[in-house]
Amino acid sequence: MTIANHLIPVARLHTAIRLLVRGFGSAPAEVEAVANNLIEANLRGHDSHGIGMLPRYADAYLEGGLKPNAHVKTLLDGGAMLRLDGDTGFGQVIGQEAMALGIARARQHGSCIVALGNAHHLGRIGAWAEQAAEAGLVSMHFVNVISRAIVAPYGGADARFGTNPFCAGVPFANRPPVILDLATSVIAQGKTRVAHNKGEPVAPDCLIDDQGRATTDPRYTVIPPFGALLTFGGHKGYGLALMCELLGGALAAGATQRSDETGKKRVHNGMLSVLLDPAMLSDRAAFEAEALAFLDWVQASPPRQGFEAVQAAGDPERAYRASRLADGVPVDGTTWGEILAAAEKLGVSAAAIQAAAGLV
Ligand SMILES: NC(=O)c1ccc[n+]([C@@H]2O[C@H](COP(=O)([O-])OP(=O)(O)OC[C@H]3O[C@@H](n4cnc5c(N)ncnc54)[C@H](O)[C@@H]3O)[C@@H](O)[C@H]2O)c1
Repeated sequence: MTIANHLIPVARLHTAIRLLVRGFGSAPAEVEAVANNLIEANLRGHDSHGIGMLPRYADAYLEGGLKPNAHVKTLLDGGAMLRLDGDTGFGQVIGQEAMALGIARARQHGSCIVALGNAHHLGRIGAWAEQAAEAGLVSMHFVNVISRAIVAPYGGADARFGTNPFCAGVPFANRPPVILDLATSVIAQGKTRVAHNKGEPVAPDCLIDDQGRATTDPRYTVIPPFGALLTFGGHKGYGLALMCELLGGALAAGATQRSDETGKKRVHNGMLSVLLDPAMLSDRAAFEAEALAFLDWVQASPPRQGFEAVQAAGDPERAYRASRLADGVPVDGTTWGEILAAAEKLGVSAAAIQAAAGLV
């Protein structure tokens, strides 16, 4: 049987996804925050962290691991250091609130360290660097994941931690920010789910099977028996993943991934964020002039075979965004089917979602 894929105009997708998110019992502001954040991930080409997460969120909510309408709680206020608890609320709300608190303090003190624990899935971490960049702030984010272990340590044959993302953002007055936002696994786990849903293999050197052998079959991260993803760059990506666990996990959240979480649907993130105001650390104009001159120098490198241009981190996402805003968001049939099933689980009519998306 062929499952139809869809190309959904952004405005229609917003209407459909808002309808679904209301099924969590979320207040209107939370409905907007969750729908906007997830659709923004799709727009920026990260389907792994877009609306395809909603079925997982629905299961997490139904088993009690995700608490709608929760807000950030301040556990410790050290002025330029904040320790926050996410109360297992939607990461789309908790992340935004945590950054808003950190941004206000960084403006006051020049920098702020935000330690956030107990947030449900914070989604695309680049969203938080973008929020800081919009406020003119540089930011760095170390994130751990508490869920089913899915990534093997360098030299190990089974999964011991999550896809622990690292992110950094640098804003400029008159140019889009540089936003580096990456999973420390070779590919994000959601990308293996998307590949599995599409029936496609993943690239070589990304995965091992349940016996620790190399494979390109994404099923080993989606259905048992589970294998593991590998870290990017061998021991280097593994080292960065370890730092995300030590800083985002042990230090910020007070919790690391070290037990068998198989079977639990909730995904919790810990995040250590450093926010700083370049205008208070240096001469902003001089910093920007030097940074932009360097970016121009780097991007003047002639493209080698197979490449069209040298890009800066954040450029591919902006290109995706422009084309998807114009053409619509592609959603594969399996993912869309899972979204409709999730709606029904939340008491929202799948037919109403279909109609809102213009798919009848
Ligand atoms: N919340 C969580 O638990 C969690 C866990 C893992 C990943 N994530 C998210 O998953 C998303 C996807 O991560 P990923 O590792 O698959 O991303 P990716 O491999 O697509 O991109 C990583 C980074 O590389 C940059 N990039 C891509 N192509 C480039 C090029 N040709 N030249 C220069 N720079 C380029 C991008 O701008 C981006 O900053 C991220 O948003 C991440 O935050 C979230």
